[in-house]
Amino acid sequence: MNFILLGPPGAGKGTQAKNVIKNFNMLHFSTGDMLREGKKLDKTINKFLLSGRLVPDEMVINIIKKRFERDDIKKGFLLDGFPRNLRQAEQLDLILESKNIKIDKVFFMDIGFDEAINRITGRRVCECGASYHITMLPPKKIGICDYCEADLIQRDDDKENVIRDRFTVYEKEIEPLIKYYKKIKLLVLIDGLKDEKDVFKQISSYILQ
Ligand code: AP5
Repeated sequence: MNFILLGPPGAGKGTQAKNVIKNFNMLHFSTGDMLREGKKLDKTINKFLLSGRLVPDEMVINIIKKRFERDDIKKGFLLDGFPRNLRQAEQLDLILESKNIKIDKVFFMDIGFDEAINRITGRRVCECGASYHITMLPPKKIGICDYCEADLIQRDDDKENVIRDRFTVYEKEIEPLIKYYKKIKLLVLIDGLKDEKDVFKQISSYILQ
């Protein structure tokens, strides 16, 4: 089974992706994570991340194309943060077609701007991949990761001025993408405002169909 998670910054895509891969044994491809990893080697990536703009399509499509070359793709996957615009969706279709792979569902997790700001400004992350929220999902010890005891940090693009720009980009690109997946009957609406368990329940119910 293969799925896509769409939604604004802070919608809970990463949180739900972790729940899905743990419970349904599939691969998780987050272009945001891949780019944050890649910025250590390619400094130009960081400029885009810090400005809240999208990294150029060619760059991201190439990353995805390369990842799809690997055989483990047959295990099933969840795409998180890709595609981000219509061009990326069309390119993804070409990659999938060449591999004879189909997408089963596209989950659209919607939350409003105020909730997104609240979630993102409170997010703290660890290098090990764990993610927290200072009030809604706090670590046991303030500022320290429960799993590896490293110091938690705030993502550079989680500052309020960058979040606004990320949201503006999102609002410009999302409508055509929604129309695209609605037209081919893959789109499923998920109420992202519910708590983490409830959102996972909604997503699981479609995966189990
Ligand atoms: P990316 O890393 O994809 O960021 P994003 O889409 O902005 O999403 P976030 O990671 O901010 O949020 P999320 O939805 O994963 O929420 P999370 O689960 O963490 O992209 C970053 C940048 O990379 C982009 O701006 C762009 O520059 C570049 N990029 C990435 N993909 C690209 C592409 N395809 N093309 C071009 N450029 C690309 O949750 C957030 C917080 O809320 C956490 O603290 C969490 O604990 C909490 N939370 C989660 N669920 C709930 C809930 N149900 N209730 C209450 N709190 C919750």
